[in-house]
Amino acid sequence: DDKKTLEGKIVLITAGPTYEAIDPVRFIGNHSSGKMGFSLAEEAAKRGAKIILVSGPSSQVVKHKNIDLYRVTSAKEMLNKVFEFYENVDVAIASAAVADYAPKEVAKEKIKKNDENLTIELVKNPDILKTMGEKKNHQFLVGFALETQNEEENAKGKLEKKNLDMIVLNSLRDEGAGFKNDTNKIKIFTKTEKTEFDLKSKDDVAKDILNFVEAQILK
Ligand code: C5P
Repeated sequence: DDKKTLEGKIVLITAGPTYEAIDPVRFIGNHSSGKMGFSLAEEAAKRGAKIILVSGPSSQVVKHKNIDLYRVTSAKEMLNKVFEFYENVDVAIASAAVADYAPKEVAKEKIKKNDENLTIELVKNPDILKTMGEKKNHQFLVGFALETQNEEENAKGKLEKKNLDMIVLNSLRDEGAGFKNDTNKIKIFTKTEKTEFDLKSKDDVAKDILNFVEAQILK
């Protein structure tokens, strides 16, 4: 009974956090659950698309048979996996919470504690979405922005800077929004439009996002 509105389309989705190793047992990470990306993948698959889901460490599981899940750990691994497929996708949605920095060196052995403080030097990670924007030719490119201040301005700035077609803003100021919750409250920006949505389950938010994407790509 599902309408196959995305039949024949290939959709690439990044999800979850990334973990950046410090030593064999420790990492720098974040609280992203991966729920938003996995909900998007399920909904797009129900609509007939073939899904390439590249996820960092997450306890979410895939149900639909049209979803190919690739599990990665670090931002660099996510970047490499994404660019194995990017050229051939119709839509790319970056919902992963990629770590902005990674330890410059990964210790080969577990770092031992002593009485001194410990300093870990961090280097910038690649910006996966920005790279997708630079290499964009036919893809419809969607980013996320999770902001705590100057939300709309920052979201619109990212739309421009990363060469996106659409950006989904969620504010940490909104009750029930953000990345650990089962609900989310979003605003969608394109270069010309702004649309606000109510607080909903992430499954329903995924429907809103994909309805919006469909309206843009089929226009
Ligand atoms: O610049 P900022 O991290 O706020 O941008 C968020 C958007 O960029 C999200 O869509 C996120 O998935 C993507 N991103 C990425 N690679 C990074 C950082 C962010 O793909 N290294």
